[in-house]
Order: sequence, then C-alpha cells, then structure tokens
Amino acid sequence: MHFRTNIELMSGYVPGEQPRGQKFIKLNTNENPYPPSPKVTAAIAATLEKGLQRYPDPLGTAFRVRAAEVLGVEPDWILCGNGSDDILTIVTRAFVDSGDVVRYPAPSYILYKTLADIQGASCDVVRYEEDWSLGYEFTAPLPRLNLAYLANPNSPSGTLLAPGEVAAIADNLPCPLLVDEAYVDFASTNCIDLVRTNPRIMVSRTLSKSYALAGLRFGYLVAQPQVIAQLRKVKDSYNCDALALAGATAAIDDQAWLRENVARVRATRIKLFHGLEDRGFKPLASQANFVWTTHPSNAHEEIYLRLKDQGVLVRYMRYAGWGDGLRISVGTDAENEALLAMLG
Ligand SMILES: Cc1ncc(COP(=O)(O)O)c(C=O)c1O
Repeated sequence: MHFRTNIELMSGYVPGEQPRGQKFIKLNTNENPYPPSPKVTAAIAATLEKGLQRYPDPLGTAFRVRAAEVLGVEPDWILCGNGSDDILTIVTRAFVDSGDVVRYPAPSYILYKTLADIQGASCDVVRYEEDWSLGYEFTAPLPRLNLAYLANPNSPSGTLLAPGEVAAIADNLPCPLLVDEAYVDFASTNCIDLVRTNPRIMVSRTLSKSYALAGLRFGYLVAQPQVIAQLRKVKDSYNCDALALAGATAAIDDQAWLRENVARVRATRIKLFHGLEDRGFKPLASQANFVWTTHPSNAHEEIYLRLKDQGVLVRYMRYAGWGDGLRISVGTDAENEALLAMLG
C-alpha cells in the first residue's frame, strides 16, 4: 500500500485524554462543566421526532441567519463546520498546497502542525515573546507563506492580543490570517469587526467551549462573502448533521444563557487563579476557560500524575525547546475546590 510520503512521516494529532469508565474530575480538555441551554436539548429532540431520513441543509441557513444577527454580519459571511477543527481543516485545504508554508506561534494549538503535515506543507513556528506578544518574525515575508494561524485567546497560555495588535499583524502579513477564537466568549474583546475591513482576516469560533456543546461538534467561520464562497467548494457537502444544526441554532439563539454561563466560568477562573497562587504556583492571568500554570519546583509531570491518581485530570503539556507546565480547565466551584484541596 502506498500512502503519500508526508502522511507516513507525520505523527498525527493526539487529543487530550477522554477517559471512559472511571469517573474523573475532568479538567484537561477545556470543556464547559455545565449542561448547555435547555433549548438545545429541546431542539435536538424535536428534530429527532421529525426523523433523520432526509439530508440536512448543506449550508446550515437557519444557523447562519441567527448567528448573523448576533454577530452583526450577513448570513453569507458565515460558514458552518463540524466543530471548529473542521473549519480549520477547510481553510487549510483551501489555501495551503504541498510545498507551501504555514506560520503559527508557539506554544499554541498543536493541531495547526497536523493540518500542515496533511497538506505536505512546512511550518514556520514563531515563539511568543516573554510577555506573550508577537514580534516582527510573525509578520516577516517568507516565500510560499500562504496561511497564518493565531489562536486568540491562545491555548495553552490563555493570553489575548488586542484587536489593534491583530489588525496590525494582518496588515503586515504577506498571507491570510486565521484568527482562532475558540475561547473568545470568555475574553474581554474579539476580532469580528476586523473581518469587515480586511478580507484577509478570517475568524473561527466553536460551540464546544462557551456553549457547552463539545459533544455536538459545531463551529463556524466569519469571513467576507467572496472568501466564504471559495471555502464552500472545499467543505464536505453535508458537513453538519441535522441534530448539530438544530442544537447549534438553538444555542446561538440563547444569548442570555451564554452570558450567564460565561459569568459563572469567569468567576470560578478568578478563584482558580488565586487558589493556585496561594499554593505557590505561578499561574498566568487567563482570558479563556482554563489557566496555564507552572510551579517553581518544575515537578509538573509529577503533579499531573498525582492528581490523576486522586481522580483529577488536568493537562500536562511539554513543548520542545520551550518548557512544560499544566493547563487546568475551569470546572464548577465544587470541582475547583476539590482540585485546590489536593494541591495542599
Ligand atoms: C485553540 C483551539 N482551537 C480550536 C479547537 C477545536 O475546537 P472544536 O473542534 O471542538 O470546535 C480547540 C479545542 O480544544 C482549541 O483549543
């Protein structure tokens, strides 16, 4: 059997642990600890009731109409995806050819490398500065550079670049910029407005985090309509199923639920940050639903393993040439208290 060489050579993306069976306090993959809006479950049940024998709307128009109202754009500025990973895949397939280069900061979302590997592209990885800003290297010209990714807020740091900084990056970059706003509902600003004035900025969002729907798989992209039109050619015809479309439409419609949920998560995030500081950790202030922390002992892997033994799963992350630490998702107050009690 002959696979493309780049597929044989790549290692593939390894998602965070999703244990089945044993009951963990699960703080490792930045899921929302609360159930979604009850309107989501009702919409899915109603769709099931109608039956699944027909194909879904290939463009997810009901979702796009409602999301467009919420975001202040038109429906043809929105592309629906089977999770935002699907959106990232579609954008990469549309822009990146074999032999091209993609750019992204480090440390950041590990999937960007996997997407480049699949295309047979190479990666120009630019280290964040000490203060989590991005220097000139991130916008420097480079032959065959065809796409840049920027998670904002970033994972694992939880840090955020202001829209003005992102606009300047996009203006100076010689290629399109995909701003991955998976965590943006937990942050103080977002970059949707930049899309209006710069056709080379695309913003991806997910319902996995702030809408508590990681299991449903739904994300979307906001970009100018001529960009969306090209990307539609690349996506699977029916990339979002009928249940996901119904659930996502109900979710985006319930902005009151979103506001309440985000407020709860942010309140616990502050408690987690201070709780870690009080126990000698060095957490970073976060704009997301997780906190990145190191400990002066550097015993991060041991701490991760000890917590796991005690039934709490956090994410131990090591980045070659940069260092390691723990990324801890914000759980409920009770989960947070249990975690902090174990940390002494
Ligand atoms: C930065 C970032 N982008 C995108 C995603 C993908 O989210 P989903 O595919 O669930 O929408 C994640 C998931 O953890 C993420 O951390």
